[in-house]
Amino acid sequence: MNGYRLGAIGIVITFFTIITATVLLPMVLFNPVPSGHGNKYVKTDVVNPARGRQIYVREGCFYCHTQFTRLQDRGYGPLVKAGDYVWETPHQLGTARTGPDLTNEGGKFPSEWQKAHLINPRAVKPGSIMPSFSYLTNRDMNDLVAYIQTLGNQRTVHAYVEAPAEYELVYLPKKTVDTNSDAAANAGRGIYTQNCAACHGLEGEGNGPNSISLEKKPANFTRAFYKQYPDAFWFYRVSEGVAGTRMPRFNEILTEEERWYLVAYLKTLPQNQEVVVDKLDQLNKVGQVHLPKLTEQEWEPHSGGE
Ligand code: HEC
Ligand code: HEC
Repeated sequence: MNGYRLGAIGIVITFFTIITATVLLPMVLFNPVPSGHGNKYVKTDVVNPARGRQIYVREGCFYCHTQFTRLQDRGYGPLVKAGDYVWETPHQLGTARTGPDLTNEGGKFPSEWQKAHLINPRAVKPGSIMPSFSYLTNRDMNDLVAYIQTLGNQRTVHAYVEAPAEYELVYLPKKTVDTNSDAAANAGRGIYTQNCAACHGLEGEGNGPNSISLEKKPANFTRAFYKQYPDAFWFYRVSEGVAGTRMPRFNEILTEEERWYLVAYLKTLPQNQEVVVDKLDQLNKVGQVHLPKLTEQEWEPHSGGE
């Protein structure tokens, strides 16, 4: 056997090994169990969401919309699991988020709103770049809207990412701070003002001065969503930061005790508002900046007198 032939065989074997490992094996081995939280398409006399799904595919909604919520996503509702998709063929995961993720879109707006939005997006969302789908027939439109309203309809729990087990099993038991006490919350407030307010705002509304320049906005801790966070989860987020955002990992910056004080403080914030900070005048000024008043001489030292 000459060297060329040996080389060719090597190339062919390498090629098939890679294809087997990355394409064929996963196809055989990856069989997620149905989670029971996929979308449920219930046909009525008037509308057929399953047909609406075909229109969603046909119109290419997935070019701009995804249907998966990831660890670092906030505000798109409950996270998804592999088993949510077992009946979705072809899946509508999508890759680009030109528009928002639609995993849990169902029930977010009334059907009339959805219809108006599809016909003329700019009428209900000024400045929207979503194209108009006004050419759809009435039947197509109604089925499509019915489909949108089923998205996430089986996902009732507002789940969040689970903290790694060590947070419940290791850190929580050796916690030294009473995270329900006012004293701890007070101590936490000081640490918060120094380390967090520049991004999260003095009142935790996510409107610190840095927030304007961040693409992924700092969390607004006054959202009702945060009522469900247990201590260990707050502690985990503060310690490990949030992947894909500028939220730092404070486990290397603050001591364990300081991070528990922060947890105590974060829990005392009123968790009842929904504010989206996207304008300069909504920014929260952290600390007073005193600009010295300049006299004319100081301002233009070479003018006047002399
Ligand atoms: C060219 C990209 C693009 C395409 C294609 C597109 N969208 Fe959109 N969509 C957007 C953008 C951008 C927004 C955000 C602005 C807005 O709400 O109009 C949006 C918003 C939405 C919203 C509101 C989401 C929310 O919670 O605010 C829905 C629902 C929606 N699109 C459904 C659809 C459907 C159904 C289709 C297919 C018929 C579709 N979109 C096709 C870009 C697109
Ligand atoms: C550089 C800006 C910045 C600083 C400083 C900062 N954060 Fe964050 N924080 C963020 C961003 C951005 C996110 C991500 C928000 C998201 O996931 O949408 C975040 C997320 C969080 C979350 C997770 C929220 C959730 O939804 O689970 C917690 C908790 C948090 N920050 C607490 C703190 C605390 C406590 C401090 C101070 C010790 C702090 N952060 C300092 C920017 C910052």
